[in-house]
Amino acid sequence: MNRVEQEIKLSRLVCKNRLIRSAVHSFLGDTQGQMTDAEFAMYETLAANGIGMIITGHCNVSAEGKANEEQIGIFSDRYIPQFERAAKIVQQHGAKFIVQISHAGPRAVGQEDLVDVVARELKKNRQARELTLAEISRIEQDFIAAAKRLQQAGVDGVQLHAAHSYLLSRFLDKTFNQRQDAYGGSVENRFRICAEIITGIKAVCGDDFPVLIKLNNDSKTEDETYAADMVYMLRRCKELGVELAECSGVDFLAKKREERLYYLERIATLRQQVDLPLSLVGGVRSLADMDAVLAAGIDMVSLGRPLVCEPDLLPKLLGGQPESRCLSCNKCFALPHIRPGLRCVLQRKLKKAQD
Ligand SMILES: Cc1cc2nc3c(=O)[nH]c(=O)nc-3n(C[C@H](O)[C@H](O)[C@H](O)COP(=O)(O)O)c2cc1C
Ligand code: SF4
Repeated sequence: MNRVEQEIKLSRLVCKNRLIRSAVHSFLGDTQGQMTDAEFAMYETLAANGIGMIITGHCNVSAEGKANEEQIGIFSDRYIPQFERAAKIVQQHGAKFIVQISHAGPRAVGQEDLVDVVARELKKNRQARELTLAEISRIEQDFIAAAKRLQQAGVDGVQLHAAHSYLLSRFLDKTFNQRQDAYGGSVENRFRICAEIITGIKAVCGDDFPVLIKLNNDSKTEDETYAADMVYMLRRCKELGVELAECSGVDFLAKKREERLYYLERIATLRQQVDLPLSLVGGVRSLADMDAVLAAGIDMVSLGRPLVCEPDLLPKLLGGQPESRCLSCNKCFALPHIRPGLRCVLQRKLKKAQD
């Protein structure tokens, strides 16, 4: 049996294997924040193909925090039934269904009044203003309310999106956060918004409701100090009862197809320093790659683009396909808008080869 096929018990969740489908915005919601039939079908296909844990694309916790026109929402009770349906689809295949919750910060769409951790000049002559303390508190409440709705929907847990320059990640990283108050400066202060959200979720949902987090393992400009910050943040996550931290990074889009496991060394070092279940995401393309991650003591392994390209990748790899066919071309970030209905440049080609 390959390492990735082995069952794992986290603190609360038992996963049938160690493979996570990392959060991937699907472009399959409607403009009102509702899942379409294509979104439900995507979950069915992923779950039927053996993935142990499926994390949804980022879902906005408030109307103001919406990152994409077709983003799936969780900022009102009207969204509960769709998550109930999706959770059942995934769970009936024995997989865990985790919902990623997020606020886009200055990357929000359709907003005149853009906010960020500190005031900032944006592209196209736009400006974001600094969040007030009252607004930070409001955003924390939005995350907590979203988690409560999702618990009502019967999902297996939530993941805070604190990576990839969305709002929470901007608090964590000194590159963005130059606040002078309780939410800026020391790493304790920069992590405060996440800590308060996690504590708030535990208070309303109970300690047994799994809370996961996705973080960048690195930073564009604060790399040496950020490595030490990561140790603090992961240890704090452990104290707060976080189920698993999924470690991503800031530059995965710049990596070529041949580049693999670019975060492994750093995350393996973190593994030695912290006692919290971890997963690595970025550049995992084969069973050998998965094995290298798990052999380093990292508990689970996450894939994004390879499962857009081939949702049935796990059975294919176990059946002898040497690696994912994903080109790491990143066209899946724009393609659904250019060619509605298509998510990957290889989709038609791969389908034809299968038929
Ligand atoms: C089209 C697309 C949408 C994505 N949407 C999200 C998202 O909603 N939330 C998130 O945390 N990461 C998102 N990601 C990043 C992936 O989860 C993953 O971290 C990244 O693609 C690197 O992993 P990979 O090399 O296995 O693709 C997205 C990636 C792609 C390609
Ligand atoms: S569009 Fe490119 S990067 Fe995206 S899944 Fe397809 S091959 Fe991979």
